Amino acid sequence: MYRTHTCGELRLEHTGKNVTLSGWVQRARRLGGMIFIDLRDRYGITQLVFNMESDGALCEKADKLGREYIVRVNGTVAERSNKNPQLPTGDIELLVTELQVLNEAKIPPFTIEEKTDGGDDIRMKYRYLDLRRTNVRQNLELRHKMAIETRRYLDELGFLEVETPILIGSTPEGARDFVVPSRMNQGEFYALPQSPQLFKQLLMVSGFDRYFQIAKCFRDEDLRADRQPEFTQIDCEMSFVEQEDVLNTFEGMVKYLFKTIKGIEFNDSFPRITWSDAMKYYGSDKPDMRFDMKFVELKQVVSGHHFAVFDSVEYVAGICAPTCAHYTRKQLDQLTDFVKRPQIGAKGLAYIKCDENGAYKSSIDKFYSREDLQSIAELFGAQSGDLILMMAGDRRKTQKALNELRLEMGDRLGLRNRNTFAPLWVIDFPLFEWDDETQRFYAMHHPFTSPNQDDIPLLDTDAGAVRATAYDMVVNGVELGGGSIRIHNSELQHKMFRLLGFTDEQAKSQFGFLMDAFRYGAPPHGGIAFGFDRLVSLFAGLESIRDCIAFPKNNSGRDVMIDAPSAIAQEQLDELSLIIDTKDAKCATQTAKEN
Ligand code: AMO
Repeated sequence: MYRTHTCGELRLEHTGKNVTLSGWVQRARRLGGMIFIDLRDRYGITQLVFNMESDGALCEKADKLGREYIVRVNGTVAERSNKNPQLPTGDIELLVTELQVLNEAKIPPFTIEEKTDGGDDIRMKYRYLDLRRTNVRQNLELRHKMAIETRRYLDELGFLEVETPILIGSTPEGARDFVVPSRMNQGEFYALPQSPQLFKQLLMVSGFDRYFQIAKCFRDEDLRADRQPEFTQIDCEMSFVEQEDVLNTFEGMVKYLFKTIKGIEFNDSFPRITWSDAMKYYGSDKPDMRFDMKFVELKQVVSGHHFAVFDSVEYVAGICAPTCAHYTRKQLDQLTDFVKRPQIGAKGLAYIKCDENGAYKSSIDKFYSREDLQSIAELFGAQSGDLILMMAGDRRKTQKALNELRLEMGDRLGLRNRNTFAPLWVIDFPLFEWDDETQRFYAMHHPFTSPNQDDIPLLDTDAGAVRATAYDMVVNGVELGGGSIRIHNSELQHKMFRLLGFTDEQAKSQFGFLMDAFRYGAPPHGGIAFGFDRLVSLFAGLESIRDCIAFPKNNSGRDVMIDAPSAIAQEQLDELSLIIDTKDAKCATQTAKEN
């Protein structure tokens, strides 16, 4: 028998019992004639004691144990004289009488401790060792718990979990597809699903009524802290529903998860904001509502004062950072440099300091009198001690930059606490997004999203103004989920494709099966998908979703542990009729030759 108990299980009540434990050697300490070893498994750590006086040979054997050796020990549980309140098993220790080395281990490349000495790259290369660290493992335990509770909630409401295929054709989420060549259909490719969108709609046509799936999705896009090429969605669809039904059902799910997992209750309904107000007041479709600092538009009040920067632009707006009037020249210069960084792209930053004595100090006081500055300050409801920061330029670009500045000031003022949660629904997204470069509309969500019924007449006259029946759930500035009520009428769907620049043939070849299905009785339906990795990392307070994924990719989309992606053998390429034709691509045989 390898064990009678786990390493996290023994307590004072087991004192005097003879037990067997198995696990990894976390660390060893020698103290006089004693050796203390922390034995670790998934469940915890138990202190083992070897005593030179009672068994010299055993002690010598214990002395040879290295870090991460796997051992089985037998002994008697004893109360510790020096208790460790940090450990659940800290009241006891095991007086070892038998020791068997089950497996030796090389010295790990980094310490298997919560605060490890290993950098990111090395921990990713040896991810199986990184996963031994308690804090990393706990993220996966949380993930498991959240998956179970999600299933429980949805099952309770009659949702059926249905798996959909991974080898499919292109899906319409707007990112690049990952493709897989087909051997049996030479020259043809599968695409991996960017989401199960089309299948879940087909399941509604099949009458499944309520579907969900904790589904793997694949998108070939630039990676960020909250994006992985391969990620997981809680994907859901419902029939005979309107937007309100979907919002209520999934607000319920998020509240249920907060309550059962984090013990946090939200008694009120989640606030809602329209997309246009989100842009107007926060310059973002995923505003962080943990703090206020709303934008105030200033173009009207600041124009006509011979200040060319403000007179010549489309848009002028600002935020009021409370208690920041003390900012020095240097701090203001730093903020200006921050907004001028290429990723943010602002041209400059103007300020008004509202001093304690009612005076205003401003970078633009050449153009504005004290009364002008005061009336601007009043628009912000600024108090003495506050700092007003203003930007000017094209509307969208400036809103985006001011959003970054707002978040930066929120960080500086400590207003973005990870243990505070501010959920929000963003509704009434535009149906289309205009792209200047290609001179055409793109679907803001995806082409199956239904226009708001009131705006259908605008489809022919002012498509850019049409609102979608689409919604996002945002928590703390992170887009956790998004969905929509779908078009279930093939006429309207055709029109949508046409507006999106698909020819009838293109629409037919890509989505013909869906159009056909809609002709066989498609119920009104709608749904949503949550980014499961984002949800878990929000609950765990993580910086990056990588930390709650067992085997994630790095920022270049590589799995450095298994070294993927990698070249394939010439025989495999031949079998697939593929020829690699880029200068720097290598095929496996070439690489093998070089080696
Ligand atoms: P959408 O594209 O908005 O909608 O995706 C839904 C949610 O999935 C998460 N997400 C990601 N998480 C990690 N890495 C990524 N690369 C990534 N991309 C998206 C986000 C996002 O809110 N089929 C529709 C849903 C629907 O209409 O029902 C869809 O996929 O949290």
